[in-house]
Amino acid sequence: MKKTVLTLLSLMVATMIHAQQPVYLDDTKPLEQRVEDALSRMTLQEKIAIIHAQSKFSSPGVKRLGIPDLWTDDGPHGVRPDVLWDEWEQAGQTNDSCVAFPALTCLAATWNPSMARLYGESLGEEALYRGKNVILGPGVNIYRTPLGGRNFEYMGEDPYLASIMVAPYVQGLQSKGVAACVKHYALNNDEEYRHQVNVVVSDRALHEIYLPAFKAAVQKGGAWSIMGAYNLYQNQHNCHNDIMLNQILKRDWKFDGVVISDWGGAHNTEEAITNGLDLEFGTWTDGLTMGATNAYDNYYMAVAYKRLIEQGKYTTRELDDKVRRVLRLHFRTTMNRQRPYGALCSDAHYESALRIAQEGIVLLKNDAPKKKESLLLPIDAQKRQRILVVGENAIKMMTVGGGSSSLKAQHEILPLDGIRARFANAEVDYARGYVGDTIQSYNGVNVGRSLYDLRTPAELTAEAVEKARKADVVIFVGGLNKSDYQDCEGHDRKEMGLPYGQDALVEALLAANPRLVFVNISGNAVAMPWLQKVPAVVQGWFVGSESGKAIASVIAGDVNPSGKLPFTWYASLNDCGAHATGSYPGTWRADHSIIDERYEEGIYVGYRWIDSHKGAKALFPFGHGLSYTTFKVTNPQVSASSAPISADGTITFQVDVANTGNCAGAEVVQLYIHDKKSSLDRPYKELKGFQKVRLRPGESQTVSITIDKEALSFYDDRVGQWVCELGDFEALIGTSSNNILHRIKFVVK
Ligand code: BGC
Repeated sequence: MKKTVLTLLSLMVATMIHAQQPVYLDDTKPLEQRVEDALSRMTLQEKIAIIHAQSKFSSPGVKRLGIPDLWTDDGPHGVRPDVLWDEWEQAGQTNDSCVAFPALTCLAATWNPSMARLYGESLGEEALYRGKNVILGPGVNIYRTPLGGRNFEYMGEDPYLASIMVAPYVQGLQSKGVAACVKHYALNNDEEYRHQVNVVVSDRALHEIYLPAFKAAVQKGGAWSIMGAYNLYQNQHNCHNDIMLNQILKRDWKFDGVVISDWGGAHNTEEAITNGLDLEFGTWTDGLTMGATNAYDNYYMAVAYKRLIEQGKYTTRELDDKVRRVLRLHFRTTMNRQRPYGALCSDAHYESALRIAQEGIVLLKNDAPKKKESLLLPIDAQKRQRILVVGENAIKMMTVGGGSSSLKAQHEILPLDGIRARFANAEVDYARGYVGDTIQSYNGVNVGRSLYDLRTPAELTAEAVEKARKADVVIFVGGLNKSDYQDCEGHDRKEMGLPYGQDALVEALLAANPRLVFVNISGNAVAMPWLQKVPAVVQGWFVGSESGKAIASVIAGDVNPSGKLPFTWYASLNDCGAHATGSYPGTWRADHSIIDERYEEGIYVGYRWIDSHKGAKALFPFGHGLSYTTFKVTNPQVSASSAPISADGTITFQVDVANTGNCAGAEVVQLYIHDKKSSLDRPYKELKGFQKVRLRPGESQTVSITIDKEALSFYDDRVGQWVCELGDFEALIGTSSNNILHRIKFVVK
């Protein structure tokens, strides 16, 4: 009895509280009702305030209504250290170190969407703990040229692969109540002159190559925000671009989230009002960088906007739409009471970072150093032997630098340390070999370990060669780094070759000891003129906190590599469409204000270019990656010899995959579609399905891949629609874009 009265009483109290609570604070009410209610209570000043920044990374809520500030932060590989309120310099906190997750090229190289989900969830928890509501990532600009300074932050060249990988990242992150801000929408495919580039691209290439990953992030991932890119499209900046934002994103894709300007990407009040920008960040108008106290009032969508409304030039129609979107973002994040608390630098997060790294590292080449010898990798960690590690990247932190994705990692295991720890039975020696960039700080984050070395290149080479002679095996950890003009925001690389004389060093080492493993640290392909002579090459990416551990585990064979390249590793720049057509980096207009970059290669990006241009060569094809075991792919089957093309019609392909080697491993079955005849030119093949399958030695499994009408369609720019034409097709099934093992014919009727 007593209990019933108490329950009744508490129910009544709860109902009374609900009754007093305004609708916008009542999370039992539908989102749109809450948005409308909050909007109806806001003054013009409050509406204007909520659509632009108040500091480098935050925008205000509405204090009077108890709507808190919104905090954003980079992204995309970990939660960036806090910067000062109004400056880029870091704030010097001692509680903002994070776990650095592998860069997104590595994530894409896992070809495993569940890794993307894990990535998003882990990062979301770190962001929550740090009080961030929006993570500025992931990035899905297509890899168009190996010179692209930010390719490491993106998911490779293929629209399908990037689409499949981006959605679970977004979902994982947002499952924690932290918004993804997918960037940089769109056509920000290189960094050089990024504020002045006007991209000229065909509608087909736009829709078939450059937009699908963004569309997937929005429609499949359900992204709550998106970042407009710096560059222009059709002569309009992407942060306020009518076609990109109003028409494609908001009208066609029905995006209900917030368009955030890239920092400093807004340029014009009226365009910002009418062309789809919702939340302005990073504008450096009127002395913001000088620390003017009212700098934020001078944003394009601040006082200037309010004045235009007061003068009657605009009603609040556009403003209310922006405010609704921003409120939605608040309800989804800052005001979401269901959010967990998050955790920073947890064991689980380190474990995730390690797993993703191990799955993304790609074994590019693995031969025997000499006939009759066994394959160079893996290196037996039990054996007492002399291992020489060479190269600056073995001792250089890569989580610092590269631009806005730079982190303050709680720890980063360097390759040399990882190798030393794993090969404790061996005698591991080190030789620097070359001096690249000794600066190890970014925005005030200092590594605290000096890389200065005043020896000449000849002295460094001589030392490395001398030591190599005595070693049983040499592991060269080289590649690029996060310095300007390498894998770094703001500029592109100047050439495809390795910097700092590494090619000559490789040759010198090979002459002394052919048992050489080259571990390439980069987010981009590099030229490898010595490839024929080097028996083993590992693509080590930028893999974050657990870097050394992950690399060592692959070299030792604790982990059987299963990563596959998310881009074509061109032999030279001329093998890449953007360069072969001479269209990169573009042509300056007479007044030098804008540089027009025409994507002359159109839809022929990456393997699509290689397939259609005789003589164009890849050192390693898209989708390539070796394993320490071997696989057999047999018994191709199709569910029906003809495919229906009704909206929900599907066709399923099957193959059996067997592990025919001696250790457990994973293979990625890739399915490409070849359209035998179509009214418009199509690439020879296009990736439309894949599946990673993990097998013990001797085990086999049937892999099924189902595709639908969408997979068979192309964007017909004559009618502005995706079209699936009837006729003969082939499904090409293989383990890389140039290792097609089976072709299955089918007809679309
Ligand atoms: C970058 C963005 C980044 C922003 C904030 C810009 O320069 O292009 O990717 O999120 O800065 O740091």
